[in-house]
Amino acid sequence: METDAIELRDVSRRYGAGGGGVRALDGVSLAFPTGTFTAVMGPSGSGKSTLLQCAAGLDRPTSGSVRLGGTELTELSERRLTLLRRARIGFVFQAFNLLPALTAEQNVALPLRLAGRRPRRAQVREALRRVGLADRARHRPAQLSGGQQQRVAIARALITGPEVLFGDEPTGALDTVTGRHVLSLLREMVDADRRTLVMVTHDPVAAAYADRVVFLVDGRVHGELTGGAPAGEIAARMASLEADDAAAVPC
Ligand SMILES: Nc1ncnc2c1ncn2[C@@H]1O[C@H](COP(=O)(O)OP(=O)(O)OP(=O)(O)O)[C@@H](O)[C@H]1O
Ligand SMILES: [Mg+2]
Repeated sequence: METDAIELRDVSRRYGAGGGGVRALDGVSLAFPTGTFTAVMGPSGSGKSTLLQCAAGLDRPTSGSVRLGGTELTELSERRLTLLRRARIGFVFQAFNLLPALTAEQNVALPLRLAGRRPRRAQVREALRRVGLADRARHRPAQLSGGQQQRVAIARALITGPEVLFGDEPTGALDTVTGRHVLSLLREMVDADRRTLVMVTHDPVAAAYADRVVFLVDGRVHGELTGGAPAGEIAARMASLEADDAAAVPC
């Protein structure tokens, strides 16, 4: 039977109170099955990053339920949530967020240190080898290209063996060719290791690497495409959502 790595039920997130408040998520229910790759798309401000933050236990919904495996995240204390994130969740951001003073291998080892585990050099080197950077272990971020830095960030996200990997525009700062390389790598993490990947992107070509594309508009799920939709179809859907969104803005 297929299980869900993450399940959101009726999740809402409000920022601020009263008339000036913003409802960034408005009753979102979504399941992310284990071993699948989901892309999340939608106009700017539609709630994509907020969705990711709530699903990953980095932000708390105002109401609703978020389950990771069997664990209800909204009921955990800050401390338990931090421990759970370190052990079971990986992140890759648009800005690679590597520590500039540390070498590639020290950056990759960091999550293990934070989790109180002693990093083994062989394990760290293997993680770098998998992302094609075995020969860059001693380089600092400033000595690496953007694509190489993002691959270090992916190795760092995977070093603890997380069940779920979240990416907020992980290819947003990369050129087309480098971005494709990183996407192939992410796809492989799903296919070879059965990890669950949820990725926010503006790029229909990037979204076409996913098994499913979920569209958000104004904090609500606004349909999805499944079964490996081609980039052209995804782009057409996005264009129509953005046209609706623009039409809805009061002038
Ligand atoms: N910390 C915050 N305080 C107040 N409002 C916020 C906060 N974070 C997000 N918002 C608002 O919530 C809504 C959703 O924001 P979110 O960052 O999730 O959008 P997004 O879809 O990721 O947009 P983008 O594509 O531009 O990154 C927006 O209206 C935004 O202004
Ligand atoms: Mg965002």
